[in-house]
Amino acid sequence: MTLKNWCAVLVISAGAVSSAIAQSDFPPSANSKQEAPRLVEVMSMAQLQHLKLWHAGKAGNWDLAAYELRQLTNSLAEAAIFYPAIPISNVTTMKEPLLSIADAIAAGDNRKFAVSMRGLTDGCNACHASMGRGFIAISVPTGGQPPANQIFSPSGSGRKK
Ligand code: HEC
Repeated sequence: MTLKNWCAVLVISAGAVSSAIAQSDFPPSANSKQEAPRLVEVMSMAQLQHLKLWHAGKAGNWDLAAYELRQLTNSLAEAAIFYPAIPISNVTTMKEPLLSIADAIAAGDNRKFAVSMRGLTDGCNACHASMGRGFIAISVPTGGQPPANQIFSPSGSGRKK
C-alpha cells in the first residue's frame, strides 16, 4: 500500500483501520490479548512520532519520514478505535494534512513538508481544544536538535517501498 493510501484508509473508517493496523510487519502473537493502551500513552507516542517526523523531514531522510508518518497515522487511528468518545470527525479532519505530508515526502519537497506539518499540528490542537484539552498545545518543533539517541541523517540504506 502506498503511503498516501495508507493515510487515507486509516483515517477514514474505523473498520478499515483495525485491519490495516493488524497488517503490521510485526503482528503480536496470536495468544496475546489485545489490550487498549491508555489514551495518554497513544498520545505521548503520537507526540514523539510528530517530533521524529519533523526532524526526519528536515534532515531529508524521507524513508524515516515515511515510516514515522505511518506510525503517527496508526496512533491517531488507534485513538479513534479504542476511544469512541473522540468524535470521528476530529480524526477525519486529520486526513488532509496527513495526505499532504505523504505527498511532500514522495516528492522530497521540504517547503510543502513544513507547511503540511503546520496543518497537521493545527489539527492536533483543534481536537484538543474541542475536547476540553486546549491546554495541551502542540507546536511544530522549534529546537534544532532531534532526539539525541537516534541518527536522523539518511544512512544510505535501501529505500523500502
Ligand atoms: C481526534 C482527537 C485528537 C487528535 C487529532 C489529537 N489528539 Fe492528542 N489528545 C486527545 C485527547 C482527548 C487527549 C487527552 C487524553 C486524556 O486526558 O486522557 C490528548 C492528549 C494529548 C497529549 C497529552 C499526553 C500527556 O500525557 O502529556 C499529547 C502530548 C498529545 N495529545 C499529542 C497529540 C499530537 C502530537 C497530535 C497530533 C499529531 C494529537 N495529540 C492529536 C485527542 C486528540
